[in-house]
Amino acid sequence: MSTVPTLHWIGDIQGHLRLIDQTRLPVELIEIDCRDVETVWEAIKTLRVRGAPAIGVAAAYGVCIGVQSVIASGETPFFEQLRKTADRLASSRPTAVNLFWAIERMKQAAERLRGRPTPEIAATLLAEARAIHEEDRQMCRAIGRHGAELLRDGQGVLTHCNAGGLATSDYGTALAVFFAAAESGKTLHVYADETRPLLQGARLTAWELQQRGIDVTLICDNMAAQVMREGRVQAVVTGADRIAANGDSANKIGTYGVAVLAAAHKIPFYIAAPSSTFDLSIQSGREIPIEQRDPREVTHGFGRQTAPDGVAVYNPAFDVTPAELIAGIICERGVIRPVNREAIAAMLG
Ligand code: MRU
Repeated sequence: MSTVPTLHWIGDIQGHLRLIDQTRLPVELIEIDCRDVETVWEAIKTLRVRGAPAIGVAAAYGVCIGVQSVIASGETPFFEQLRKTADRLASSRPTAVNLFWAIERMKQAAERLRGRPTPEIAATLLAEARAIHEEDRQMCRAIGRHGAELLRDGQGVLTHCNAGGLATSDYGTALAVFFAAAESGKTLHVYADETRPLLQGARLTAWELQQRGIDVTLICDNMAAQVMREGRVQAVVTGADRIAANGDSANKIGTYGVAVLAAAHKIPFYIAAPSSTFDLSIQSGREIPIEQRDPREVTHGFGRQTAPDGVAVYNPAFDVTPAELIAGIICERGVIRPVNREAIAAMLG
């Protein structure tokens, strides 16, 4: 199993962020160093680091990088630079709420210390980023424990995109459920959707499951219906990028289709996500901003032209699965079910 962390901070407040460049997987396991805010922004934008919780952690460390040059400049320049850094990092990707949640947490940690010496505020920012990182690790372990209880020995399970250790601090959300089930002695057979257009399922999920010795079969996205009809899948578990107050859940494009298929085949469809993925300020999935990405991801994926010049392309990166298609949301506090406003409010307090 790879022991290289998805991302980590090196050094003290003048240190830097090191992360696995996920665009190079599965062929190469390469880390890159982020020493300025633009490099962090670019890494998030281009999916070198991706997955809702991981981009939140990366942005938190990015805030620390942003204030490095103004630690000795006094309070006004410090807070001005903090604001600029936060705004820049928040512009990298719109859908995963963990990004905004982490940036907001960093801003509030600094605000609470207004009036204190700026080196103290900077040290607190690094401590806050480390806390966000560590809490995510703990939440993923708890999600794994709760989710594993939903699965039975010998089951076939299907997942979409990558909600594993690469998408979080460590261990993952949807994949944590499989890892924890395996650790408790259950044998699962995982079907991984390849996840067009950027192939997070093929490149990352299949790789992670192989690394952990879990039985995995890769399928193209358009094979899921047939695999379900053949009776190979008894549960679906995916991650989420933002969950509205009513339980509608945004996740990688194609997730909604998988949920519809699961309903048609009477297979329970679960979402696994930490509380940092809930956005209780929005009432339903209609309010979730959906990232639109470069058409070339569809027409020129991985270095080869696969569509005619000039063809119109629509490339939303996420879709929203309505709450009524979700059998349960596995979060660090337990399993929310049925998935509705009241049950979510009760679980998240
Ligand atoms: O575009 P990506 O690769 O960042 O999309 C990631 C997903 O959709 C994941 O399923 C989600 O962020 C949950 S990760 C624990």
